Amino acid sequence: MERTQFILVAPVLGVLRPSTLSRSFAAAAEARAVLENELDSIRAAGTWKAERIITSKQGPQITVDCSRGSILNFCANNYLGLSSHPEVVQAGIDALKSYGAGLSSVRFICGTQDLHKNLEQKLAEFHEREDCILYASCFDANAGLFEVLLGPDDAVLSDELNHASIIDGIRLCKAKRMRYKHMDLSDLEVQLKEAQSSRMRLVVTDGVFSMDGDVAPLRGICDLAEQYGAMVFIDECHATGFLGARGRGTDELLGVMDRVDIVNSTLGKALGGAAGGYTVGPKPLIDLLRQRSRPYLFSNSLPPPVVGCATRAVELLLDSNEIAQSMTAKTMRFRNSMTQAGFTIAGSAHPICPVMLGDARLASLMSDDMLKHGIYVIGFSFPVVPKGKARIRVQISAAHTNDDIDRCVDAFIQTGQKHGVLS
Ligand SMILES: *Cc1c(COP(=O)(O)O)cnc(C)c1O
Ligand SMILES: *[C@@H]1O[C@H](CO)[C@@H](O)[C@H](O)[C@H]1NC(C)=O
Repeated sequence: MERTQFILVAPVLGVLRPSTLSRSFAAAAEARAVLENELDSIRAAGTWKAERIITSKQGPQITVDCSRGSILNFCANNYLGLSSHPEVVQAGIDALKSYGAGLSSVRFICGTQDLHKNLEQKLAEFHEREDCILYASCFDANAGLFEVLLGPDDAVLSDELNHASIIDGIRLCKAKRMRYKHMDLSDLEVQLKEAQSSRMRLVVTDGVFSMDGDVAPLRGICDLAEQYGAMVFIDECHATGFLGARGRGTDELLGVMDRVDIVNSTLGKALGGAAGGYTVGPKPLIDLLRQRSRPYLFSNSLPPPVVGCATRAVELLLDSNEIAQSMTAKTMRFRNSMTQAGFTIAGSAHPICPVMLGDARLASLMSDDMLKHGIYVIGFSFPVVPKGKARIRVQISAAHTNDDIDRCVDAFIQTGQKHGVLS
């Protein structure tokens, strides 16, 4: 029957209704012109994002289709080197064999396996919070939270430089939206005062901001939140697994694990890098998210191999902090050598090491030259970062060797001299 319909429909459209068809062709051509125009303006603005094709697995050494031999990769969020860790990969294979490729279902219909519950429990344990809910991504986690938690009588106070997923998530909720200046406690206080007439207040910040690798002033934020009766939410995508004495995150680093109410993070960075996001926090909140959160209710369960990999990654980190310590040592090796050579590296101890260059063209030319030295790094310029603050963002991984770090520094010195950044 289906086949018959297919054969019939096409001639009917083409032969019997020619005017409708040409109208739709005209509309399609018009849409195409509009899209081409939009694409041209992105190219003209110099903000076109090309995708480099990697032909190997993710790791400190990768192969790409435009270069012979392997290159050293310094632009992944693979902070702990777990993306291709043998135990993590094996756990994914085991989960694939025992639990299959996927669930073909959302969680509440028939998409929850013991595997998912086990990972949620481990993540809650890792963050020392009551409960955890998994999402297909942290982007989804952020999209789901605010709408459920906050109504029109509430206020959300958000750092102006928060991640796009938080900004989108906040747009979806009906609460009063207030933005405070980047990491500015006095501006936050002004706004908290203004928000006193609201029913609830939620302060929202990235734990670590990904462009500068700077750490939110969480202790001050928690003090203000206590003083003005607000909850605190942090997005820990660039902190989970390695910041703090046991790698629990920015809240552990700054001694406020018991004062931050809600944490969102990702499985797509340090925790194996596959995919998935989650929220940890008070049990009633997590229960309510399972009932109401749209990205959770209407999107497929995380695939078992992804859950298997992430579970092993979290287990490795619950067992020992050795990997995170090794990453920190390499981060400091890079930061110290680069500073000694005369470069300016923003941030302090974070594995995001922005090599500040200022000029957008310089950042772009230097990153191209770095690739000729076999080092893969990416330049960032306006509008991703402010005008005049172009940089090459280097990201260190525990999987880099000391020799990898030294080779990267050497390449920076040579290209820096060539472009007059170093004398
Ligand atoms: C990467 C990132 C996200 C998105 O995480 P996904 O799991 O990849 O969707 C959200 N917030 C911040 C701060 C991030 O850096
Ligand atoms: C945190 O994640 C949840 C879902 O994972 C999402 O619904 C929520 O909007 C996120 N919160 C913030 C403040 O980003």
